[in-house]
Amino acid sequence: MNAWVDLRSDTVTQPTAGMRRAMAEAIVGDDVLGDDPTVAKLEERAAAIMGKEAGLLVPSGTMSNIIGIAVHTRPGDEVLLDADSHSMRYEAGAPAALLGVMLRQFRSTCGVPSPDEIAEAIQTESLHSPGTALIVIENTHNVSGGAVIPPAVHDAIWKTSRERGVAIHLDGARIFNASIAGNTSVEQFAARCDTITFCLSKGLGCPAGSVLCGDRTTIERARRVRKRLGGGMRQSGVLAAAGLYALEHNIERLADDHARAATLAACIAELPGVSIDLRSVQTNMVYFSTEAPARRWVDALQQKGVRCLALGDNRIRLVTHMDVDNAGIERAVRALSSVASDLA
Ligand SMILES: Cc1ncc(COP(=O)(O)O)c(C=O)c1O
Repeated sequence: MNAWVDLRSDTVTQPTAGMRRAMAEAIVGDDVLGDDPTVAKLEERAAAIMGKEAGLLVPSGTMSNIIGIAVHTRPGDEVLLDADSHSMRYEAGAPAALLGVMLRQFRSTCGVPSPDEIAEAIQTESLHSPGTALIVIENTHNVSGGAVIPPAVHDAIWKTSRERGVAIHLDGARIFNASIAGNTSVEQFAARCDTITFCLSKGLGCPAGSVLCGDRTTIERARRVRKRLGGGMRQSGVLAAAGLYALEHNIERLADDHARAATLAACIAELPGVSIDLRSVQTNMVYFSTEAPARRWVDALQQKGVRCLALGDNRIRLVTHMDVDNAGIERAVRALSSVASDLA
């Protein structure tokens, strides 16, 4: 039995034996010099899955978002993004600090933005105003509990973006979760944006890596921005091999994570001293509010072998992933019930 049931994030997974073998056996080159065949294979595979012309392996989702914003903007341009998006809240102010763009925020409802609000916010550059160059959408939406933005919403925002000449970057860190939960192909989501990034390190079991996909010209520009950010890697075929392995073996099983999150959520809904919106539990994340300070919940759960994160004073996040099986979920359910009665 694992010492911990670690539900802090789907980034805590350990590479499996099969993935480690693929990494050990990878044929590698120097990717900055352009001759790592395994990186090239991953980039081609990712682009094909997304229905885009080209892909670029980058070290992290954060760097991929920074590059995604950089390739569509100039300093002083305006970027419309969700007030609770990862780029807005958790990337250390990178768009402002590194790219000099203006960020204008829209609000979403349960992670779903309003196409009308976005259309209204777009402005044309003038002597006085910055022009809106880019809209950033996040699907699934992390802070809203892994909520899925439906394809129809993407359609409407895409239509506006074409009419108004504004690019769209999709932070699809967990786009495969959105695809499975929404029964929509990732290609359908990717067809409604100019660039899409997805993470290999979230839910798919890789130690690192994201892939940014788009048209060939944009991805060539992205390669230069990656270099400028210090993200050019050498024998990164070792990471790419993990990515290829994950794309082949670890996508369909995300449905298990979603089922386990639903089990956790159903248990939490019955506990005293907490509240949860079951509608928000659509993929592999479970957020709930606590009457007692969230910090006390985290500490008490940790004593029972369950790790989770406090987000704010009274909010807890649990994330299911491939390293937590049904037995782990049962342990977590027992720990949650026991902590709820202790803190009630
Ligand atoms: C929606 C979303 N985008 C981007 C990122 C950033 O990924 P990374 O931690 O690889 O920089 C995360 C990380 O959790 C995320 O949840």
